[in-house]
Amino acid sequence: MKAFDALSLVPPHVQAFSPYYPSKPDPVLMELYGVSRLHRLNNNENALGPPPEVAALIEAISPGTVPVYPNGDCYDLRGVLADKYSMTAEQFLVGNGSCEVIGSVIKAFCTEGDNIITADKTFAVYEWVAEFSGIEAKLIPLRHSTFDPQAMLDAIDPKTKILFVCNPNNPTGTYWDSATMRDFLDQVNNRALVVIDEAYFEYVEETDFPDGMSLVENYSNVVVFRTFSKMYALAALRIGYLCASPELVDLIRRTHIVYSVNTLAQRAAAAALSNDGSFVTATREMVRAARARLCCLFDDLNLEYLANQGNYVMVRLPVSDTLMYRKLMTSGIMVRTMTGFRFPNWIRISLVQPPVMEEFCRIFAAVMTDFKARLGG
Ligand SMILES: Cc1ncc(COP(=O)(O)O)c(C=O)c1O
Repeated sequence: MKAFDALSLVPPHVQAFSPYYPSKPDPVLMELYGVSRLHRLNNNENALGPPPEVAALIEAISPGTVPVYPNGDCYDLRGVLADKYSMTAEQFLVGNGSCEVIGSVIKAFCTEGDNIITADKTFAVYEWVAEFSGIEAKLIPLRHSTFDPQAMLDAIDPKTKILFVCNPNNPTGTYWDSATMRDFLDQVNNRALVVIDEAYFEYVEETDFPDGMSLVENYSNVVVFRTFSKMYALAALRIGYLCASPELVDLIRRTHIVYSVNTLAQRAAAAALSNDGSFVTATREMVRAARARLCCLFDDLNLEYLANQGNYVMVRLPVSDTLMYRKLMTSGIMVRTMTGFRFPNWIRISLVQPPVMEEFCRIFAAVMTDFKARLGG
């Protein structure tokens, strides 16, 4: 029999794509680094955990729920979202994390020869999904750590289908204010779809920050992404959504997997939205305090850093980010190395409760002192 040559069946753009390897489970890492506990500061999770309404929901859920398929199109949750944002249920499409809806939008609009435009240093999944789907991703360099609107407009060509704007940007935390966003949308002038990824929307406290939901009302080419993974701390349940005009949602729905969002996630998301806002306020206070603490540390150590919006900051190291990662791991602290994200020797740190931030500061300062002594010596 002829040998099976799997590779020959794989399209060239998939052959050329390098897979992303997520970090190992915490118990495996703890054993590897010889620590008895691990503070996860690598994924911008909300360390406060979900709102209390979610804990109550999870405790009350019955095993009898499990044999039954979920709402295939998140019917109930879309109703809750519509009420919350004064939109209609037809304007929402819910996915297995907002990562899933990135794929649905690209599949709905792009075919071979098309391109998408985004930044070179942003959430990488827009670029990855485009590339493993055989679509060119035009990556526009950030300007002053911020998406560059003019350069993105200049890059539009007749094959451009989607522009992805991460607002605020992960990992730099920078954002376009309302005037910049509206000017950009006016200049795109309906030539392409504009996706505004607001994964960290609920963390932003600046008054000039544009609310994507109100842009959807005025611009028929705008799609807004939001997620329950960040502020609402439902990352393990995998649930996020997009909001756009009913016409756009109807097109995107065609390439979207139905039944991909489980019942627990749908109910937990609705419960999270029922919180009176005190949870968001408490989380913002925690993040503000943690950001101030880290700025102070990095100023003292004379290190360059980016501390803007979102529940994360980045710092540039005088040594390899991988080496710093390993050193911190031996003390039970996990951060995100950023060389792979085109920020050589930067790390990103999630902003969490004061005791953990204090522990991070103490350990980071000690590692830096050690490095300096070695470099100096
Ligand atoms: C900017 C941005 N968009 C989307 C996501 C994906 O979120 P989800 O967990 O909903 O797939 C993330 C997660 O890190 C993110 O940082």
